[in-house]
Amino acid sequence: MEIRRSTKLDNTEICNVHMSAFDDEEGHELIKLVSDLFHDKTALPLLSLVAVDDGKIIGHILFTKVEIIQKKETISAQLLVSLAVLPEQQNVGVGTTLIKEGLKELHAQGVELVFVLGHPDYYPSTGFIPAGKLGARSTLLHTSKK
Ligand SMILES: CC(C)(COP(=O)(O)OP(=O)(O)OC[C@H]1O[C@@H](n2cnc3c(N)ncnc32)[C@H](O)[C@@H]1OP(=O)(O)O)[C@@H](O)C(=O)NCCC(=O)NCCS
Repeated sequence: MEIRRSTKLDNTEICNVHMSAFDDEEGHELIKLVSDLFHDKTALPLLSLVAVDDGKIIGHILFTKVEIIQKKETISAQLLVSLAVLPEQQNVGVGTTLIKEGLKELHAQGVELVFVLGHPDYYPSTGFIPAGKLGARSTLLHTSKK
C-alpha cells in the first residue's frame, strides 16, 4: 500500500470511497464538504492523502487549516475533516496508517495541534486525547506535536 498526496485526478475515486464507506446521506454530505474545502482558500494549507493499493484508491484523509486566535500568539493548527476507507479494506490498518502519515507530515511542517471531531474509541489509538484536557469546552479530540 502506498500513501501519497491526492491530485485533482483522484477526486472521482475519493468520492467513491466516501460513498462506499458512509450511508447515502452522510456520503453525499461529506463529498460536498470535501469538494467545497478543496476550493476554499481559507482552508489552505490543506493536506489530502490517499491510500493506494494495486492502483486503486482504498482510503482518503483530509486535514485543513484551523485558525486559533489567542491574545499574544497564533497557534498553527489543523482539523482532521474526514477519513474514509473502502468497506472491504477496513480493519486492516489503512485508517490508522493514513492518520499516522498525515500527523507525521503536519508535525514536520510545524503544525502544533490537530483536532478531530470523531469517535472517542478510535482516535486515541493514534495519539488523540480529549481536547477538554487543554481547557477546550467541546467534544473535540486533539493531538499535539511530538
Ligand atoms: C473508521 C474508519 C476510517 C477506520 O479505518 P480502518 O482502516 O477500518 O481502521 P483500522 O484498520 O486502522 O483500525 C481498526 C480498529 O479501529 C476500530 N474501529 C473502526 N471503526 C471504528 C469506529 N467507527 N469507532 C470505533 N472504533 C472503530 C476497529 O474496531 C479496530 O479496532 P481493533 O484494532 O482494536 O480491532 C473506517 O472503518 C471507515 O471508513 N468507516 C466508515 C466511515 C466512518 O465511520 N468514518 C468516520 C471515522 S470517525
